[in-house]
Amino acid sequence: MSEQPPPQVPRFSPFITLFGAVLVIGFGIAFFAVLSNVPNLQQLMTPVFVTASPQFTDGIEAQVAAADPSKGAAVFEKYACAACHRAESGVGPALTGMGARAATRRPNYSAAAYIYESIVEPNAFIVPDYANVMVSNYKAKIPDVEMFNLIAWLLRQ
Ligand code: HEC
Repeated sequence: MSEQPPPQVPRFSPFITLFGAVLVIGFGIAFFAVLSNVPNLQQLMTPVFVTASPQFTDGIEAQVAAADPSKGAAVFEKYACAACHRAESGVGPALTGMGARAATRRPNYSAAAYIYESIVEPNAFIVPDYANVMVSNYKAKIPDVEMFNLIAWLLRQ
């Protein structure tokens, strides 16, 4: 009595194996596509008390570009910014050169975005060697039209 070898049944048919591989790869690609589209994962994971970011100032450049810098000096006077920002010195950084310095203060910030943030969210970044004394209610006090005229003017100082 000779023993019959058991019939060779492949554990998985090649088609099922192929189908499985395609599924796994497909899901893998979809997974990473979704992950990489979540806007700024890192940012989502930062604690909520960090309210300011370049995203926070999205769209500011366009509004500043459309503003009227010739009306900015009056806004600066109206809200008494000059009490602390004098031409060359003061409690706050000098007015002279403010536009040029604004472009260099924070990575990933345009000068306009930085100045906007400095006014509406002054606690977001404290200029080294200065005290954190700017009041943080300017967004409520200064209407948008005045705000953007002011920023357009400050950029030219
Ligand atoms: C009570 C004093 C005070 C007043 C009033 C004030 N600031 Fe400031 N400001 C400061 C100080 C101090 C700093 C630097 C510390 C900091 O970053 O908050 C500063 C920083 C800034 C900066 C960033 C400057 C830089 O070189 O990086 C801008 C822009 C600015 N202020 C604009 C304004 C405008 C516009 C107003 C009026 C609407 C105003 N400030 C009113 C004290 C003041």
